[in-house]
Order: sequence, then C-alpha cells, then structure tokens
Amino acid sequence: MGSGGREHALAWKLAQSPSLTKLYAAPGNPGIAEEAELVALDATDHAAVSAFCEAKDIALVVIGPEAPLVDGLADSLRAHGFNVFGPSKAAAQLEGSKGFTKDLCARADIPTAGYIRTSTLDEATAALAKFDAPYVLKADGLAAGKGVVIAESRADAEAALADMFEGNLPGAQVVIEEFMRGEEASFFALTDGTTILPFGSAQDHKQVGEGDVGLNTGGMGAYSPAPVLTPELQQQAIDTILRPTVDTMRTEGMPYSGVLYAGLMLTEAGPKLVEYNARFGDPECQVLMTRFQGDLAAVMLACAKGQLEGVTADFADETALTVVMAAKGYPGTPEKGGAIALGDAETGGQKVFHAGTAVKDGTLVANGGRVLNVTATGANVTEAKAKAYEAVDKIDFASGFCRRDIGWKEVARESK
Ligand code: AMP
Ligand code: GLY
Repeated sequence: MGSGGREHALAWKLAQSPSLTKLYAAPGNPGIAEEAELVALDATDHAAVSAFCEAKDIALVVIGPEAPLVDGLADSLRAHGFNVFGPSKAAAQLEGSKGFTKDLCARADIPTAGYIRTSTLDEATAALAKFDAPYVLKADGLAAGKGVVIAESRADAEAALADMFEGNLPGAQVVIEEFMRGEEASFFALTDGTTILPFGSAQDHKQVGEGDVGLNTGGMGAYSPAPVLTPELQQQAIDTILRPTVDTMRTEGMPYSGVLYAGLMLTEAGPKLVEYNARFGDPECQVLMTRFQGDLAAVMLACAKGQLEGVTADFADETALTVVMAAKGYPGTPEKGGAIALGDAETGGQKVFHAGTAVKDGTLVANGGRVLNVTATGANVTEAKAKAYEAVDKIDFASGFCRRDIGWKEVARESK
C-alpha cells in the first residue's frame, strides 16, 4: 500500500522474492507498475481494502506510509484475519504522538531529550524558562516533518509557540525539549513484538539546500550504512532504546509489529532517541532495499505472523546512496506536469525509483514534490555518490532540481 519512492523500493524487492507468487500495489505509481499489478484502492476505505484482500486471497499486506498505520488500517485488516506488515493504531502512536513517545521513554528509562508537554500557550511560554537556547518545539501529531521548530532565542521560541497554538496544530499539544548535540543517524529494526531483527542504518539529508541549510523536507537524499553508527553504538541503541521500547509496548498491551525506525542522536553520552517512525524512511528505504539480500516477502511474512525468532537479514557490504530529484518549488508548492526523460540513467547499474511521477499522454511527468530517487552502490559513499550523480546527469527533467552534495559529511571523512 502506498505510492512513493519508498513503496517503489519495497515493491521492487518484494518482486524479487523467491516466495512471492503475485504482487499487487495500491495505488502505486508508474515505477511500481513495472513490478506489480496496480489496483485503485483508497487506504482510508478499510472495507474496500479488506474486500480486495478477500477476493484475491492475499497472504500479506505491506503498509508503506504512516498515515494509514496511524489510521488503524493494520487493525482493520487483522480483524479480518489478514497478515499485515505494519503496526496497529495503538503501536503507531510511537510516530503519531510525540507526547506518547516521550512519556514511554520516561516510563522505560530510555535515553532521550528532557521534555515538558504543554497544552496552552501560557503553559508553554512559562515552560521555556526551564530550558536553554536553542529551544526545540514539537507539535504533537503527524506533521510530515513540518511540526518541529528549533528556535535560537527566547523571543523566537515565544513567537513560534504563539504560531503553533493559534495555527492548525496537528495535535492540541506542544512538546518542548532539551536540545541534543551530536550527529544524527537512523537505525531500522523489524520486530514482531518480541524479537528484534536489526535491519540496517542510514543517514539522510532533511534540508532542501546544499550544506544542510534551508527548509526541512521529507528527505533530499540518503545513504546506507551509516558508518557513524558503529556496531558498538548500534548494540547500545538496541539495549537502551529499542529493547525497552518493544518490551514496554508489549507488556502494556500494544505490541509493536513491523519496522521500527529510530532517529538517533549520537551524543557524547551515547545514542539518544530523537524520534520514532512506524514505517521505513523515505528515501532511507530505497538505500536499505538496494543493499538487502534475501527474500523480503518471507521476512515480512514471518514478522507479521510473530515468527521473527531465528530469522536473519543480510545486507550487501557495499554502500548505497540515493539522490532525490524534486520538482521546483518543493518543499513549498511543487511544479506539476514537467516532462521527464530517464534516458539510459540505469545503464551503469543504477536504479531510478519513482516517487511523485505520473504518465500523461504517454510521457512521464512530475506529479509531486519528490519525484525520482536516483540510487547507486559503491565501495564507499564517495564511489556510490559519483555513480548516482552520473545517472542524475543523464536524466532530462527541466522542471526538477536536486542537491549535489548528498553524503558530504561522509565523503569528507573518507577523504581524510
Ligand atoms: P523530528 O521530527 O522529531 O525528527 O525532528 C526533526 C529534526 O529536528 C530532527 O531530525 C533533528 O534534526 C531536529 N531535532 C529534533 N529534536 C531535537 C532535539 N531534541 N535536539 C536537537 N535536534 C532535534
Ligand atoms: N526521510 C525521513 C523520514 O522518512 O522520516
């Protein structure tokens, strides 16, 4: 279920699964159409999705994006007896509610930034006194990466709070957090509620501008693995963050099943949780799937059935890097309808995943903010980056743009 670059990468890997017999995707996109039969299903219409699964005798439903998870699509399908890869509505609160996650961290003694939950402007303004600049302010609900404000001064923080409480807040609360210093890395694990299967690491570039400046986006590029997340730090993250999370969710009656995506801050005091997501990252999924070696359908089915114990996940040792090509205007209002010619972008072994594309009168056109994810592999980030941009340069997409510096921090470290 889904229609972005993440879902194209999932469909591409699922299509290669030896255990797969037939793959449907809803609603999909022109890239996904090369891997699966597309079905026009609306993820908010749970009855229609169930009826389709019934009619086609579907063995496993993989839910890509967060919105249908937070909306309880997994619960509705499970109630009809279907195997689902993705958490329940209660468990998806780990992404859907910042306050829920912070409270869970407090109960389970999980390292994260200190915080105060506030529900009025007066309360929030008063709470600022308990923190130092920069101030981290987070709206409680799902906000597609736009619900977080980092304010450099008290005055900026007060103005942002006024904006958040007066505007259309996704939740009726604002969480104020301590600012954490360090480098960020993303860690992914599959869990069936009990077993935790590490599923790779990545780093992404959230900001639209080169050098990591400008507005936040869903992600302008990513690479995997993230060398900063050493095996020792990864184990520390599992022991102090993921393990207590999975155990607390289970013992509190909200077992988490699916992929748990931990946004980590690697601080001087060790890894701390920035946020959880209840799904794969986009575009992190594209680089993880490029490296994953195995029967994805079988692993996801085992996860869905609560049979992850003893299952392994192998990833190629090489680095995968993806460059997002977006439509001009993104992350504001992207230009729609711009023609795209992929040419021979994939001839060097690169893979172009489709995100916001459509076919109009026989031509591939832009149909969203993030449009293509141009992905390549190499012995390290420097090599993968060179190969990815080699493909980017073969793509004719006049109304598109991309950052030219994906992976820059790692490239700098590799050149030392
Ligand atoms: P989130 O939506 O919670 O991932 O926040 C978006 C981004 O804001 C993160 O990727 C971080 O770069 C930054 N951020 C969030 N919380 C903190 C924090 N407590 N300290 C420092 N940076 C943060
Ligand atoms: N690329 C960040 C995310 O998927 O949340």
